[in-house]
Amino acid sequence: SSHLTILGIETSCDETAAAVVARDAAGRGEILGEVVLSQLDEHSAYGGVVPEIAARAHVEALDSLIAEALARAGRTLESVDAIAATSGPGLIGGLIVGLMTGKAIARATGKPLYAVNHLEGHALTARLTDGLSFPYLMLLVSGGHTQLVLIKGVDDYERWGTTIDDALGEAFDKTAKLLGLSYPGGPAVERMAKNGDPKRFAFPRPLVGEARLDFSFSGLKTAVRQAAESIAPVTEQDVADICASFQRAVSRTLKDRIGRGLDRFRSLHPGIATPALVVAGGVAANAELRATLQALCDAHRFRFVAPPLNLCTDNAAMIAWAGLERMAAGLPADDLAVAPRSRWP
Ligand code: KG4
Ligand code: ZN
Repeated sequence: SSHLTILGIETSCDETAAAVVARDAAGRGEILGEVVLSQLDEHSAYGGVVPEIAARAHVEALDSLIAEALARAGRTLESVDAIAATSGPGLIGGLIVGLMTGKAIARATGKPLYAVNHLEGHALTARLTDGLSFPYLMLLVSGGHTQLVLIKGVDDYERWGTTIDDALGEAFDKTAKLLGLSYPGGPAVERMAKNGDPKRFAFPRPLVGEARLDFSFSGLKTAVRQAAESIAPVTEQDVADICASFQRAVSRTLKDRIGRGLDRFRSLHPGIATPALVVAGGVAANAELRATLQALCDAHRFRFVAPPLNLCTDNAAMIAWAGLERMAAGLPADDLAVAPRSRWP
């Protein structure tokens, strides 16, 4: 038929997820059934993701999540056309669980297996949600990644900038931890910042003004620690002011770095009247950062595309969709001997 359907599996970090996604001949996608189980409760007592706990939780949950996603889609393992599983980058224990499960299903049903790069899932999501055409720019800001990437086509990506130290989500998490706020840090910092004075502390804006498109956030974290140490005792208002000042510094940094990226895109593709900047990753939940990116895109005559938050954070629909895109582009399925890769740029 002209519709292709695929089962997607995602287990690279602390979300266990399964989804069934369809793609029609015109390239339109539809999520038929999806389910995500967050392991947040299992990890929050440790202030971060514990790899061994994550791997065990994936083992326990994955089979029933796949059954649930299929049920929601009204499908069976026999009635999908292919299987897609994240094979990297990520925590190796979780990757092994998801990829081995995908391989076992592919072996048992005779369906092709697509071993998907998690970052490719994030990169192509906007084509599922907003039907974007190539090329476009993506800003991925999560707990593990901070990247500005030119998306030229399926399997055709050019990384323009990356962090030289901490990921942006990691900077939020470490800042929260320094200030005694809860994990994950991003939402806690954002909540506190609402009542804070963003001008009280002049935090550094790393790499601002430099021509390269990279990011750096570890100096910012150090400045937060020094600010907190310089005040004793630290009141709730102090914490709010530090959070607001931190968020302001991050916003200004992104504005400079991404602004340069938009200019570079424009000079490479002067014929595209309204190019798109897509945001992905958990940090995309931050309202101030979203507003900054929206204003920046308005000023540069770019379209700002922020997919629904549940598709910005880790999920299996994006992995299923990346598999469908690879299929539709005529890329070969993977051999069942394919190995998971914890590092995979
Ligand atoms: O994409 P994600 O759910 O998981 C991966 O890292 O793969 O991103 C989680 C990250 C965490 O570092 C968390 O603190 C951050 O996204 N985050 C936020 C907000 N919500 C989540 N950062 C800033 N502001 C938020 N509202
Ligand atoms: Zn991710």
